Amino acid sequence: MTTLPAHVPAGPRVIVALDFPGADAALEMARRLDPTRCRVKVGKELFTSGGPLLVARLRALGYEVFVDLKFHDIPNTVAAACRAAASDGAWMIDVHAGGGRRMMAAAREAIESCPDRPLLVGVTVLTSMEAADLAEIGVPGTPEEQVLRLARLARDSGLDGVVCSPREAALLRAECGEGFVLVTPGVRPASASVDDQVRIATPARAIAEGAHYLVVGRPITQAADPCAALEAINAEVAGR
Ligand code: C5P
Repeated sequence: MTTLPAHVPAGPRVIVALDFPGADAALEMARRLDPTRCRVKVGKELFTSGGPLLVARLRALGYEVFVDLKFHDIPNTVAAACRAAASDGAWMIDVHAGGGRRMMAAAREAIESCPDRPLLVGVTVLTSMEAADLAEIGVPGTPEEQVLRLARLARDSGLDGVVCSPREAALLRAECGEGFVLVTPGVRPASASVDDQVRIATPARAIAEGAHYLVVGRPITQAADPCAALEAINAEVAGR
């Protein structure tokens, strides 16, 4: 079993991506699920429509909330945005590691003294990008090389961890150590539809490769029985 660093709260490993257009549908799904069995993620679409009030309502239901806004701007702006997200009561927040060392360090410093400071993770290479996409924006080499480069930079800039594909988890676990939090989307139970994800792994495989937390959206939220789908994943990763 992967050992969680002392500052990482124990609890559910699955983070359910609440990718709904508005607060009502997201809250309806949150009421069906159980905050002792999963955490939840609010992304750009839902946060833009539901805002901090939605985060507060999810917290009132008992959920720890990953506010996934992938900040990428000048250091001062990102630092202020991270401070605001922390004051909304986020459990986890993220920035683009491509924003560089000074931006990430400023983000970390901005939330350092927050009570119950959120975990701060860096987005490495989006799982939608391939080598050709990287070449087009002037990044040579493979996605894996760039993920490793950005993960090292995130670690050296004081971040708690990174978001990566399950396929890169083992590489980063070996490079960055047990204490570096790895959050992996692109998780699909063997029986689930792949949807538009490309670089995927099963929940058991992702945990075995070293992921701390699994972000899972449609296999749970679009299932006929979302609770049963969540429990199947929890059972698959239990004890790992
Ligand atoms: O429905 P699905 O399980 O594919 O949802 C995955 C979630 O993880 C979505 O909210 C998506 O935005 C997010 N995500 C991702 N790949 C990344 C970062 C985040 O799929 N590299």
